[in-house]
Amino acid sequence: MNYNHCCGADRLFDLKGAQKEMKKFRKKGTDKSTNLLLNKLAENGIANKTLLDIGGGIGAIQWFFLRHGAAKTMDVDASTAYLRVAEDYAIENGWREKCNFESGDFSLLEKKIEDYDYVTLNKVVCCYPDYRSLLQSAIKSCKDQLALTFPIRNILSRMLVFLSGLYFRFKKNPFRTYNHSPREIELFIRSNGFEPVFKSIRFPWHVQIYMRVGKDKF
Ligand SMILES: C[S@@+](CC[C@H](N)C(=O)[O-])C[C@H]1O[C@@H](n2cnc3c(N)ncnc32)[C@H](O)[C@@H]1O
Repeated sequence: MNYNHCCGADRLFDLKGAQKEMKKFRKKGTDKSTNLLLNKLAENGIANKTLLDIGGGIGAIQWFFLRHGAAKTMDVDASTAYLRVAEDYAIENGWREKCNFESGDFSLLEKKIEDYDYVTLNKVVCCYPDYRSLLQSAIKSCKDQLALTFPIRNILSRMLVFLSGLYFRFKKNPFRTYNHSPREIELFIRSNGFEPVFKSIRFPWHVQIYMRVGKDKF
């Protein structure tokens, strides 16, 4: 299932889409929910910290961290095209030596990824069938703060997921979107030694930050 999912993501998040997204990012920057997440993360200072951005796409979160003095960043993404566009942007800005890029399904790669101070999943949990295994892997790589955005859940969002499933089936793409339970996501993260330090909604996204409080990594 993971293999199919990631092949599908690689097909969906293609070069044309990545270039379009980069163009939009250059013109307008990040969207409201991402801005909220980033500004909250920056409140406690991110200079000299390390960041792992899972499903980082064209790297918007990385660029924010690097502009604020982060020591190094890692973008792990199922889409090779998005990583290519992100790497070009890193080179253009003189950041290449501080950035790492890895392609594939993070749930399967986690063992070869080192630990990072901050771990982010911006609009990624909704792209993955087994959110527990994805979050478990993210938590294992997180030394301090785990930040994520994921969609709110109501009748409309469930309907959209259903309709997008029909679309992907029609396109013969195994990729699917998911509307996982926000309550279960929070319970799962908390049961793994993290407590929420920020929770908000920027429609249609939950924006949440958790801090490691138990099972100290160091
Ligand atoms: C909706 S996009 C969000 C991209 C970026 N985080 C942003 O907010 O602009 C979801 C991204 O997650 C990636 N992705 C989905 N499942 C993944 C997985 N299991 N491991 C790594 N990347 C994944 C996709 O390839 C895609 O680039």
